[in-house]
Amino acid sequence: MKAALIYGSCTGNTGCVAEMMIERLKPEIELETVDVNTLSAEDLQEYDFALCGIPTWDVGELEYGWQEIYDNLDGVDLSNVTVAMFGLGDQGTYDETYQDAMGILYKKLIECGATGGIGFTSTETHEFEGSLGVIDGMFCGLALDEDTQSELTEERILEWSASLKEAWPGIVSSAQ
Ligand SMILES: Cc1cc2nc3c(=O)[nH]c(=O)nc-3n(C[C@H](O)[C@H](O)[C@H](O)COP(=O)(O)O)c2cc1C
Repeated sequence: MKAALIYGSCTGNTGCVAEMMIERLKPEIELETVDVNTLSAEDLQEYDFALCGIPTWDVGELEYGWQEIYDNLDGVDLSNVTVAMFGLGDQGTYDETYQDAMGILYKKLIECGATGGIGFTSTETHEFEGSLGVIDGMFCGLALDEDTQSELTEERILEWSASLKEAWPGIVSSAQ
């Protein structure tokens, strides 16, 4: 079972959150931490499970490392990969494109055959006008906002990690 937390980050927030997440997921879930800049799109095929961390940048755009992967995903078969997502955004300044990158990347990974539907979260404690990160009324992963709701991050990670731990035996058995 090859499982990783793969993250991209421009100003460090997603990297910090990734470290918190890795600690909270232990000991049930042990993930290798991988900087997205060290990977190619094809490299994603090697993973049985990829927890993908992505901040939204440049008003509704993907973080640059992930953008590079995204641009090269056409024709890459991810049918052996299960994915879960977490996104970083700022609902105060970017309330019409809040967490867009998480949704854009998620949809692309699913188009490439990845298995998703894991760790969707409620929009309830977030205030925004529009988000491509919302699919069927829920965020398609864990939405975090270090700019305006950093006080909620630890609790959100704790709760979300518990739900991923519950789903984990199923993820492991489908990888075998
Ligand atoms: C120029 C700029 C554009 C941004 N655009 C968005 C956006 O469209 N939607 C959003 O939710 N957050 C947006 N953000 C907020 C970042 O996603 C947020 O600060 C995040 O924590 C950065 O993560 P990083 O430090 O890992 O790069 C933007 C931030 C900046 C500085």
